[in-house]
Amino acid sequence: MFQQTLRFRFVKVAKISNPKNSSQVTKKAYNHATSQSNEKSVIFEQQKQDSVHLEAGTRMQLAINIDHIATIRNARGGIEPNPVEAAHICEHAGAVGIVCHLREDRRHIRDNDVRQLRKTITTKLDLEMATTDEIIGIALDVIPDLVTLVPEKRQELTTEGGLDVVSQKKRLADVIKSFHNKKIAVSLFVDPVQSQIETSKEIGADMVELHTGEYANARSDREVKDQLGRIQSMATLGRSLGLTVNGGHGLDYRNVSPIAAIKEIHEVSIGHAVIIRALFVGLENAVQEMLKLVVSGRSI
Ligand code: PXP
Repeated sequence: MFQQTLRFRFVKVAKISNPKNSSQVTKKAYNHATSQSNEKSVIFEQQKQDSVHLEAGTRMQLAINIDHIATIRNARGGIEPNPVEAAHICEHAGAVGIVCHLREDRRHIRDNDVRQLRKTITTKLDLEMATTDEIIGIALDVIPDLVTLVPEKRQELTTEGGLDVVSQKKRLADVIKSFHNKKIAVSLFVDPVQSQIETSKEIGADMVELHTGEYANARSDREVKDQLGRIQSMATLGRSLGLTVNGGHGLDYRNVSPIAAIKEIHEVSIGHAVIIRALFVGLENAVQEMLKLVVSGRSI
């Protein structure tokens, strides 16, 4: 039953992001997804045609993290820019999902943002979160499509390093179970390290998001090559174990293409670079420019 629901949700997403002619067909799919009539049966029909939507080799998907829209809003304590409005623009531009991180200190996204996103977005809501009792309670109440479990430190500027799944195996297994009981899929944000990926599978995660930060920070050609090799082999391992493999952190317009070329990676989650670019070209253009790179990278 859980599997079926999960598949349903992801087919809905895949349909929106699948088109060959991105902007034209995205609009069509967007309209379709927002129409209320017959939605489920149409999507289940589509499911038969798109039977390999989570398999490696299909078009890479782009999810957009909108945290920094809220950072700007919070700088003046008002209500604009509205992260929910930003999410709709990202979806319209072709993002297959909206990611937000409800942090313990609420430095950007706040509880009401998550609830409004849940009510209004038409693709997939991926709630990034630490496994504190408070945030778990909120997530179980809001019911995002997906939670991505991350480590969180109060003083950090952004998420530093992946979750240590190995040392928290028992606790994480329980947390995963509680999400599965509510039919919420679970992704673990992990460093590209074999034991972390194997343990993620062992404790029932549906997905892993490979931390691409070390790759993004690599400077010499040698270092970049090593980090890419590491991500490639861990993505292959994840897929061979039956996990869906995503990637994210520190990806930008200059470094995303080699990651997009790794066919075992299903989706990338990008925030900072897209929001920065949006300041100069607008959010819709910024998402579409990134989407082009993500899609063309696959055919390198
Ligand atoms: N994935 C995870 C798990 C993250 O914590 C973040 C940052 O919030 C991202 C992806 C996006 O990273 P960036 O903002 O560097 O694109």
